[in-house]
Amino acid sequence: MNTLDEPNGRVTKDGIRIHEPGDFAGMHRAGRVAAEILDLIGPQVVPGVTTEMLDDFIREEIARRGVTSATIGYRGYQHASCISVNHVVCHGIPGPKVLKDGDVLNIDVTVIVDGWYGDTSRMYVAGDLPRKAERLIQVTHDALFKGIEAVRPGRTFGDIGHAIQTHVEMNRMSVVRDFCGHGLGRVFHAPPNVLHYGRPGTGPRLEEGMFFTIEPMVNLGRPETKVLADDWTAVTRDKSLSAQFEHAVGVTATGCEIFTLSPAGKFHPTW
Ligand code: MF3
Ligand code: CO
Ligand code: CO
Repeated sequence: MNTLDEPNGRVTKDGIRIHEPGDFAGMHRAGRVAAEILDLIGPQVVPGVTTEMLDDFIREEIARRGVTSATIGYRGYQHASCISVNHVVCHGIPGPKVLKDGDVLNIDVTVIVDGWYGDTSRMYVAGDLPRKAERLIQVTHDALFKGIEAVRPGRTFGDIGHAIQTHVEMNRMSVVRDFCGHGLGRVFHAPPNVLHYGRPGTGPRLEEGMFFTIEPMVNLGRPETKVLADDWTAVTRDKSLSAQFEHAVGVTATGCEIFTLSPAGKFHPTW
């Protein structure tokens, strides 16, 4: 790597990159593109469409903007999104599956804009939202924001996980342990692992300039998952319904900035 390619900032003893104030703008641009595409997909999620049709739409929107999909070609993955329906926890592969009334799904999009990664996901519903899914989605959404509210310099990653876990378990649901959030920036997945459970005061300390995702997966039943034979699709072992929301954030002097806010204010499926 020559000196011109050398990234700004430094790396902590835990391997977490500390970005410069000027790096936030790049992350906001990338996050905004990913969030805009999730805004546009909302009206397309109706009974009768296949998850492949939704992925094609996302692929075209990415191309139309002249940006790059981070997932196409990532470890052999071939799609512009992950679409995880009902008991699929994450990494659902778009395909010929036809959505039916009452299906709830997470759509996860990651784009690269001028070298910066924008990674976000939300829940959608095809047709009418069933009552038990509504409760799961609300608790998962609020758990993400409890985690985001715990982000500020001096707190720890354990504080984030604890805030999420407490909210979920208070509502008698469970936090998935097998997948986590991650550092990101000019790379897709970097240290640390951002766990969605934990004990206060444990784990690395948060510092201004850290960029990472928080992306809790919450199950109505037990937390255990298994990966299907396609090597990607993760499902709940007990077939219970699962939900997930993901934002990418950057730590500031007083809290954090969310890079992936919905420009249309449509992050939640009933907004
Ligand atoms: N966007 C996912 C995440 O939140 C990763 C998807 S990788 C893929 O980290 F290859 F499955 F697309
Ligand atoms: Co992510
Ligand atoms: Co994602």
